[in-house]
Amino acid sequence: MKPLSRRSALALGVTGTAVVAAGGAGLLWSRTAGLSAGSGAALKEPVTVASRQGRLAVRLEAAPARIGIGGGTASVAVFNGSLPGPTLRLDPGDRLNITLVNALAEPTNLHVHGLHVSPAGNGDNPFISVAPGQSYEYEFVLPPDHPPGTFWYHPHHHGMAADQVAAGLYGAIIVQDAAPIPVSRERVLIVSDISLDGDGQIEPVSLPERMMGREGRTVLVNGQVRPALQAAPGERERWRLINACPARYLNLQLEGPRYQLLALDGRLLAAASDTEELLLAPGNRADFLVTPGEGRWALRTDPYDRGSMAGMMMDRRTSADTPAELLSLDARGDPVPEHGPVPWPPVLRDLREEPVTGRRRLDFSVGTGRGMGPATMGFTINGKEFDAARVDETVSVGSVEEWTLSNSSPMDHPVHLHVWPMQIIQDGARDPAGPRWQDVVNIPANGEVKVLVAFDSFPGRTVFHCHILDHEDLGMMGVLEAR
Ligand code: C2O
Ligand code: CU
Ligand code: CU
Repeated sequence: MKPLSRRSALALGVTGTAVVAAGGAGLLWSRTAGLSAGSGAALKEPVTVASRQGRLAVRLEAAPARIGIGGGTASVAVFNGSLPGPTLRLDPGDRLNITLVNALAEPTNLHVHGLHVSPAGNGDNPFISVAPGQSYEYEFVLPPDHPPGTFWYHPHHHGMAADQVAAGLYGAIIVQDAAPIPVSRERVLIVSDISLDGDGQIEPVSLPERMMGREGRTVLVNGQVRPALQAAPGERERWRLINACPARYLNLQLEGPRYQLLALDGRLLAAASDTEELLLAPGNRADFLVTPGEGRWALRTDPYDRGSMAGMMMDRRTSADTPAELLSLDARGDPVPEHGPVPWPPVLRDLREEPVTGRRRLDFSVGTGRGMGPATMGFTINGKEFDAARVDETVSVGSVEEWTLSNSSPMDHPVHLHVWPMQIIQDGARDPAGPRWQDVVNIPANGEVKVLVAFDSFPGRTVFHCHILDHEDLGMMGVLEAR
């Protein structure tokens, strides 16, 4: 058992007093207080809908809603009236049918982030646009060997993705393990951030904020401000943590309980390893085994400097420069006996052992360029802004390619490829020992990362982009066609 660190104890003391001070909405949502006054309620989890006999059919209605957040009522947009939307539980080989109903005042669509499914037709096709008042029938067929793990769904309409995700439109997808890891319980923890005014309206976002990537002042877990978790000492929990923030990086400080990192982005790691700190870029997920000793702990995210451009800092709300507590975990009662060892290791595919059939370089950059308006800096990949009518990269189904992802701008970009996960083979000075798979990989300011991608199974057109969703909306997205 590790002692409560002084910093965590201090932080708990500070917010502990704030719980007592819960008052009117005006007070709760004042700029200085954020929503902290309404914190401390027991964690709620989204409803779960699970497949049966290989099928899951679900209706997801995207609609404006009034939702209780932090002791007040906020005007948001959510799926099926809840923040987050329902958790979808699937098995490899399942067929998922989603009827997306658009009750918003603007077009939307749906993306199943991280799933290895076809991007064609009514599959995971980011080019679909569903008009207000319309609905659309999506179908996703998971291959029988689909990796188990934590994935998520969110709208992906170019130009609106950041606004719609920031408004509350997201939910978890779980692909279940063949042989579950023995735990006391599982928790889905979706982290988001939001800036609400005194009336509970989402504050408008300025162009400089969008260029920087918006960060909400208040960090939420499952739509709650610093929810409270309870466990008995020695219980082992599996946390499925999703960074659904449009731009905020989570610099997780894993102090107090034992944290073992099992998987990143729905892909198991070569070993379940004890972890004390983890950086999750927007879109990333982490699966942990968490075993607390007796005590009260907080999960904190520390500031992370993701750089900036001259001119972008003017109107930036500096939520990223203060630590935030995501949740508290209270472990007391009779200690439970130790769980058995984690069954490991999985056999992981390692593309370093397979022939590479192509190499390419994608450069992410920000600057003024040809055809770009005076007020906007262009967000480009290989010098080009997104154009849905253009194919930027063509790959062969079945090939294995090495991609060098470079960043020639002074701010980080978390790069995401749909459908096919990336195996990171060179990340700055570090070369990962075991296979490390992710579907969002952070490219540090002026940095470079090399990945291998196996373009298995699916022909079709899809996208790769920066998962700072404002950057995606501003043009930092390209089209890939597999054939
Ligand atoms: Cu989660 Cu194309 O994104
Ligand atoms: Cu995605
Ligand atoms: Cu970016």
